[in-house]
Amino acid sequence: MPRTQLTTLSDIVSPLLFWYRANARDLPWRKTRDPYRIWVSEVMLQQTRVAAVLGYYARFLTAFPTVEALADAPEEVLMKQWEGLGYYSRARNLQRAARMVAMTMEGRFPDTYEELLALPGVGDYTASAVASAAFGLREPAVDGNVLRVVTRLTDCHDDIADSGTKKAVREQIGALVPHDSEDIRIFNQALMELGAVVCVPNGPPKCAQCPLMGRCLGRSRGTAERLPVKSPKKARRIEEKTVFLFLRDGKIALRKRPEDGLLAGLWEFPNEEGALDETAAAGQCARWALSPRAWKRRLTAKHIFTHVEWHMTCYVLEVSGSGPEDFSWADGPALDRLAVPSAFARLKEEAETALGEYGREKQLEGGPFHELDGGACI
Ligand code: ADE
Repeated sequence: MPRTQLTTLSDIVSPLLFWYRANARDLPWRKTRDPYRIWVSEVMLQQTRVAAVLGYYARFLTAFPTVEALADAPEEVLMKQWEGLGYYSRARNLQRAARMVAMTMEGRFPDTYEELLALPGVGDYTASAVASAAFGLREPAVDGNVLRVVTRLTDCHDDIADSGTKKAVREQIGALVPHDSEDIRIFNQALMELGAVVCVPNGPPKCAQCPLMGRCLGRSRGTAERLPVKSPKKARRIEEKTVFLFLRDGKIALRKRPEDGLLAGLWEFPNEEGALDETAAAGQCARWALSPRAWKRRLTAKHIFTHVEWHMTCYVLEVSGSGPEDFSWADGPALDRLAVPSAFARLKEEAETALGEYGREKQLEGGPFHELDGGACI
């Protein structure tokens, strides 16, 4: 339980809502009551900043304007829409949930907290956020922003990584949710907004702009900047990898990742565990039945996931040979159509450059492109 509890926490509601009505950012999901659109926004916003979500959100809803359209989407098309947003299981869960809604609920979007919670990928935060904004239900949505605002307001030093702290904050906020249906729809948004733009993380909060400044124990006791208390995360595991950009006749090799685990079912450039030097990399080429013709470049890239860091050594090389069966060979437009996760974004740019160079070299030689046999082409 929080160490301190303001007896006057209920006093925050009116100034908070007043402030929100005058200051809220103009965000597309705040202009709709369509539960589908609100749900998509909340899933995209999990672990992703508003600025990064905006473009994806508009494109996604153009591609899949209804829950039925999302349910019917081919996996490749869905993944292409999500490319670069990360945490791809969110997209798969969205589609699984859309299929449940479209098929078993005959298109009626779940309209209770419990039904929403039963959808794949929907936890108590998302269920509450959708229930309140779309259906005007009195559910408290407690995300990281809200935890920060409340622990500062109440000068609470409990560890927000503990589920008990979150539960206690949820109870405190649950008791504050207003009764008027218009107020309910914006109450959770308002708390989140305050956390996102005023009671900001990683540095001093902008107390001078805060409608709750006079009611904040963290501010009056000078503790706000040190709150919330959060136990340090475990260090990320480092994984070394060697990635190959194999060029063969104006095409680049890719393969599909396994259907489960990290980045499941997405496309990647062939890679092996470990930071291989050129000799070891040549050995790997031989195991794939590929003969290097020209080693063009070596570069390094890094990608940070929540629990793992990939440190990648990458070789760009021209090869001949058939390559293994699970390799597909893509030209520039085909590469553009495939969903390649952002972990490989830097290397994808490099692949596009290499394909462009190849095209220019061929033009200079004046020779026509010709297909080699062997290996699936896409
Ligand atoms: N973060 C999570 N949900 C949000 C929302 N609805 N608006 C802005 N930021 C958010």
